[in-house]
Amino acid sequence: MKYSISRIRGTYDFSPREVVSFNKIAGRARKIFKLFGYQELNLPILEEESLFIRGVGSTTDIVEKQMFKVVREEEKETKIVLRPEGTVQVVRYYLENFLYKKSDFHKFFYIGAMFRGERPQRGRLRQFHHLGAEAIGSKSIYLDVETIALMIRILEEIGVKEKELKINSLGCLKDKEKLRYFLKNKLEEKKDRLCQDCQRRLKKNPLRVLDCKRETCKKEVEDLNIKEDYLCKDCLDNFKRILSLLDDLEINYIYTSALVRGLDYYTHTVFEVVSKKLGSQDALGAGGRYNHLIKDLGGPEIGAIGFALGIERILLVLEEKEKIRDTEVFVAAMPQFREDGFKLLQRLREENISSEIDYCDKSLKGQLRVAQKKKCRFVLILGEEEKKERVITLKDMQKSIQKKISERDLVKVLKDYLKAC
Ligand code: HAM
Repeated sequence: MKYSISRIRGTYDFSPREVVSFNKIAGRARKIFKLFGYQELNLPILEEESLFIRGVGSTTDIVEKQMFKVVREEEKETKIVLRPEGTVQVVRYYLENFLYKKSDFHKFFYIGAMFRGERPQRGRLRQFHHLGAEAIGSKSIYLDVETIALMIRILEEIGVKEKELKINSLGCLKDKEKLRYFLKNKLEEKKDRLCQDCQRRLKKNPLRVLDCKRETCKKEVEDLNIKEDYLCKDCLDNFKRILSLLDDLEINYIYTSALVRGLDYYTHTVFEVVSKKLGSQDALGAGGRYNHLIKDLGGPEIGAIGFALGIERILLVLEEKEKIRDTEVFVAAMPQFREDGFKLLQRLREENISSEIDYCDKSLKGQLRVAQKKKCRFVLILGEEEKKERVITLKDMQKSIQKKISERDLVKVLKDYLKAC
């Protein structure tokens, strides 16, 4: 019978090489998060659907059409979804644990899988990973600047060279309403030229028209020539101050008046880092302020800001591919000395030397070929001669030199070699 086995569309298999890259990205980000005073959270993948309806917004694409619902066999309906993003979830954790009663200010980061039922394409997956940060408990403009600086610093540390930071301010709730009103009126006049989705968005949530990736809709939005005049004096002054502080830190940015971001919780500063290497899904990461989300979810009126980077998109733009070596040492023994080889292997691992052996009954020659293929740095050979002389032959695979070492001195000599390379 013919059958095919394949991964689900929109999911991605990380090869061993890519796992090394993934872990390197996570490791470097962790180092920078620590530098900026962030603590790591690891929250569940399953959450209540209502959390995202309330938090992200019922008319956003994420909630309207992208959430994966989880239904158990015996259930007809479900209230559980796979998390589509992390901000609302961190706020849920923050509120559930009454963290605002324990301290005024908290900084959290997370690294984990998110799920959105989007149409898969390059850089757009149904399961992807966020490297996210949330700073909760302050409305300070310095925190806006720090958060953006953190995001840029992480990308630099990871080795992402070519990137652009786009920034905008949506202002306070009143300003955002003004912008909404402006968009509704202006876009209503061009309604027929917008796509079906945007015509619907226009009715329910005109800001979402600005997220549309269709060239025709993008052109209509561009022609609106949106200016910052919907911002009140306080919000405009704050935004200008943020831009000037970014200038002081020599962080380049492009003021982008049409940047509103596809989630409803944002107010004030919003930002996005894009890369030309990515094509139409060009955002490496994005974020912004969400000063009302915590109150909307039942907590106190408290300021917050954060961002999330998409790890798969970062991997797409990184030029340097990891070189991986399975293990440092390969133990190659003639068939009659397999047991000696196996014992030596245990001894090496006791000494924390990464090593392996052949389990496929290969000849000595065959074992050496495997070691070469696996790019092991050293091979330890156990043959007739070695057995007789109570030595082991150490072969340096890179330098193609070999020497005999007494069994007793082997570990020490090998460790010195490994340290030197
Ligand atoms: P977001 O813009 O929806 O923001 O996602 C952040 C990043 O995740 C995007 O810039 C992109 O790199 C990556 N991403 C999003 N969707 C996909 C996908 N389908 N496939 C691959 N990568 C994707 C948020 O989720 C907010 N929670 C960010 C935030 C944190 N705002 C405040 N705090």
